[in-house]
Amino acid sequence: VSATTSAHEKSKKMYPGEAKGFVEEMRFVAMKLHTKDQSKEGEKEPEGQPMAKWEPSVDGYLKFLVDSKLVYDTLEKIMEKAPFPECEKEPEGLAKWEFSVEGYLKFLVYSKLEKIMEKAPFPEYAEFRNTGLERSEGLAKDLGWFREQGYAIPEPSTPGLSYARYLEELSEKDPQAFICHFYNTYFAHSAGGRMIGRKVAEKILDKKELEFYKWDGDLSQLLQSVREKLNKVAENWTREEKNHCLEETEKSFKFSGEILRLILS
Ligand code: HEM
Repeated sequence: VSATTSAHEKSKKMYPGEAKGFVEEMRFVAMKLHTKDQSKEGEKEPEGQPMAKWEPSVDGYLKFLVDSKLVYDTLEKIMEKAPFPECEKEPEGLAKWEFSVEGYLKFLVYSKLEKIMEKAPFPEYAEFRNTGLERSEGLAKDLGWFREQGYAIPEPSTPGLSYARYLEELSEKDPQAFICHFYNTYFAHSAGGRMIGRKVAEKILDKKELEFYKWDGDLSQLLQSVREKLNKVAENWTREEKNHCLEETEKSFKFSGEILRLILS
């Protein structure tokens, strides 16, 4: 506002993307972790076959879809159960309680649900349910389609199982790191994930477009509204918490990379 404030702002070291909000910081770190052939913003040397030369198999792709579904199921279940963990525990002796309407009304007025929300381990997760980015249902339909075509659907394999276990652990003890995985999983799928889907469909599915790659509504609007929520949540984080979140990006690439490689297995 004042000249002094802006001078102070200018002298402060800014993190790349910081001026635009925290999502831009997460994006900056993620883009550098791509290989040079994946994106022009990538800084890593390419490893293995470039995507243009991929020879995917339906069996490998099915393993990838099954493990991806496990990861999305896990993320979406965590968001679903976020806001009221207290309410899942049944109060002692509930079976013998004698209720009255008047008493119940008093309870509703005075119990202040917000207070319960504040006590929940990480109420901010509730912001990220029903964003429209959810992928579980679409994937379930896709696997149903493959089954109808006569394919056997495999059990989840190690990459998906380890990632799901890791996400569950993080979600309870480390919200900043967890949010990093949330961001990368959903945003990667909307970018590189779609390119992969198109390539694989051309090569082995006669261009059939799977539900995994379809969103209800305008994808760029859905992404934008999640970006705004992520920025808002991160406004309450200290610089250390933000850095901790950014540092988790590498793990997100490692776990997702292993699931991606299933396509070529
Ligand atoms: C964005 C390609 C794997 C995370 C992008 C973009 C490309 C791309 C081209 C830029 C989209 C744009 O801004 O126009 C690929 C390819 C991959 C791959 C070809 C693998 C073969 C991954 C992985 C992750 C990841 C494993 C992390 C789990 C992201 C994120 C963005 C992105 C967070 C930013 C999306 C946005 O700003 O909306 N990717 N990517 N990508 N990618 Fe990847």
